[in-house]
Amino acid sequence: VSRLDPRLPPDLARAAELARARGGRLGAPLAIALETESTNDDAKRAGRDPATPHGAVWVADAQTRGRGRQGRAWLSPRGENLLFSVLLRVTCPPGRVPPIALAAGLAVRDAVATAVGDDAAVKVKWPNDVLVRGKKIAGVLVESSLSGARVEHVVVGIGVNVHTRAFPEEIASLATSVALEAAPGAPPTDRAEILADVLAGLDHDVEHVAHKGLGMIHARLARSDALAGRAVTHEGARGIARGIDPDGRLVIERDDGAIVRVVSGEVLAAERA
Ligand code: BTN
Repeated sequence: VSRLDPRLPPDLARAAELARARGGRLGAPLAIALETESTNDDAKRAGRDPATPHGAVWVADAQTRGRGRQGRAWLSPRGENLLFSVLLRVTCPPGRVPPIALAAGLAVRDAVATAVGDDAAVKVKWPNDVLVRGKKIAGVLVESSLSGARVEHVVVGIGVNVHTRAFPEEIASLATSVALEAAPGAPPTDRAEILADVLAGLDHDVEHVAHKGLGMIHARLARSDALAGRAVTHEGARGIARGIDPDGRLVIERDDGAIVRVVSGEVLAAERA
């Protein structure tokens, strides 16, 4: 065990120890940086070296170039958020990447639900945003590397708003955090505990989903689907979200009656999810 940097915030410092105590395959080795550009880039760089094992994790207290989906920036000031990336060495067809991303969203949902202490309030907005009472608390950025027609490895990058109490004005009405959603007076949750919960949840499902598809987790996803039955817009067309299909696509019944299956992109809820 490498000696920990004494400058690490105490609520992150125990991350490797907590992950190891769960006994799963994810979380070793686990590197914690005070600051990095993007943990996804750290994981992608290391993933090119075949010696870097399945389950290796990069955590940072702050990121200077945190990235979200759709080319957006991900707010990553020090001391506030759980920011990490996991390297998954799953060899599967590329079509299994969206189901893996959904499994990651579900693992984050479960961990956030434990942290805020309100299971029913925490949902997954397809494909893998995690919402509490309609506001975004976490996001997942999945980047895969192909070798021929097979996936060589997948990097799952996760950002969870944990201690933030005030967001910049542009996102204040859309974003929330564990600190804002937990019961008043509840002790603050360590970022390391949420991390260990996410890794345990993802470890439980990922290989099955990579090899067999969504089957085993489909019912759990359906139960926490923030969009199901809601009015949505996708590429300018309105409709009603009708759940997630077995390949991980969002099913939309458009207002003109057509059923469309959305593989990727952004779906906007026309009402609060
Ligand atoms: C999104 O909802 O748009 C996805 C956000 C993903 C953010 C995480 S933070 C850790 C990892 N490193 C990054 O640069 N991005 C992901």
